[in-house]
Amino acid sequence: MAELDMHDICAFVIEVAREAGGTIRSAKPSTSNTLSKKNTADIVTETDKAVEQHIHQRLQQRYPTFAFVGEESYKIGVEVTDEPTFIVDPIDGTSNFVHGFPAVCVSIGLVVKKRPVVGVVYNPFQEDLWSAVHGQGAFYSQHDGPRKALPIVSAPLGELNTACIGIEWGSDREGPNFDLNLKVFTTLARSRATGGHFVNSLRCLGSAAIAICLVAAGQQDAFWECGCWAWDVAAAWCILSEANGIMVDGHPGNWNPPIDNRRYLAVRPATDGQKEFVEKFWDVIGEDRSSYGPTP
Ligand code: IPD
Repeated sequence: MAELDMHDICAFVIEVAREAGGTIRSAKPSTSNTLSKKNTADIVTETDKAVEQHIHQRLQQRYPTFAFVGEESYKIGVEVTDEPTFIVDPIDGTSNFVHGFPAVCVSIGLVVKKRPVVGVVYNPFQEDLWSAVHGQGAFYSQHDGPRKALPIVSAPLGELNTACIGIEWGSDREGPNFDLNLKVFTTLARSRATGGHFVNSLRCLGSAAIAICLVAAGQQDAFWECGCWAWDVAAAWCILSEANGIMVDGHPGNWNPPIDNRRYLAVRPATDGQKEFVEKFWDVIGEDRSSYGPTP
C-alpha cells in the first residue's frame, strides 16, 4: 500500500467521477424506461450501465493491475480480495435518478486488503463532492468551491431520542429481513410510553453513499441499512473513517466488519459517546437477525 500514491489516485478518481456526473446530468431518465432487477424497488437504467462502462475503462487504462467490482457488471460469487480493488456504484440512488429527485451520486472507492483507502462521492445535480484518502482526512466542496475539512459537526452523541437517523426500506418487502427492519424502525420511532425510543427523526434519502457522507459530516447522527452492497458503502466508508466516524456491523457484536458485510451501521464523529450510541442501537435489534445471500 505504501508504494501507491493515494493522493494521485484520488485526484484521478475525482476527474473520472466528474466525467460520469456529466453523463448522468445530461441523461433523460424516467420511471418508464427502467429495467427491474429483483423487483420494482431494485432497478437499473441504460445510463447506470453506460456510466459504469466508462468508469471501468478509465480506471483500467490508468491502473491496469487493480481489480474492479461494479454494481452493474457484478457476477454472483465474485469476492473482494486483498488486492487493490476499485468498488464502484455508477449511480447510487437510481430510484431518485428516475424520479428527478436530486440525491444521486457516483460512488468510487478503492479498497486495499478489503479496507477503504480512497473514497470519492459526487452528486452531479447538487455538485457536492466528498472525498478522502486514508490518513489524509476527509473533505467536502460544492460547485467546485473551496474544500472544507470534515466533520462539520462533532458534538457528543447522547440518547437515541435526540438522534436523526438515516434508514432505507430496501427491496425485500416480506419475510424475516423485512420484519426486522419494521421492528427496528418502529422501536426507534414509537413513544417511550409504548416501548420505543422516540428518535428525533428517521430519514430515508434513497442513496446510501450520500447518507453516509452526511453522517461523516456530522449532519446526520447515524445511518443503518441491512441488505446494501459493498459498492453502496465503500467510498463513503473511507470518507466516514477519515472524518473520525465509525462503521460497525448493522447487527450486534462486530466492531470491525468487512467491506462486503451487507449490514452496516455508520455513526458520526463525536467528541464523546460513539461507543455507547452503537450499543444502544444494537440493543434495539435484540436477538433477531436478518440474512442476505450473495444474490443481488
Ligand atoms: C441503492 C441505494 C439505496 C439503498 C439500496 C441501494 P442503487 O443503490 O443506495 O439507498 O437503500 O440498498 O441498492 O440501487 O440506487 O445503486
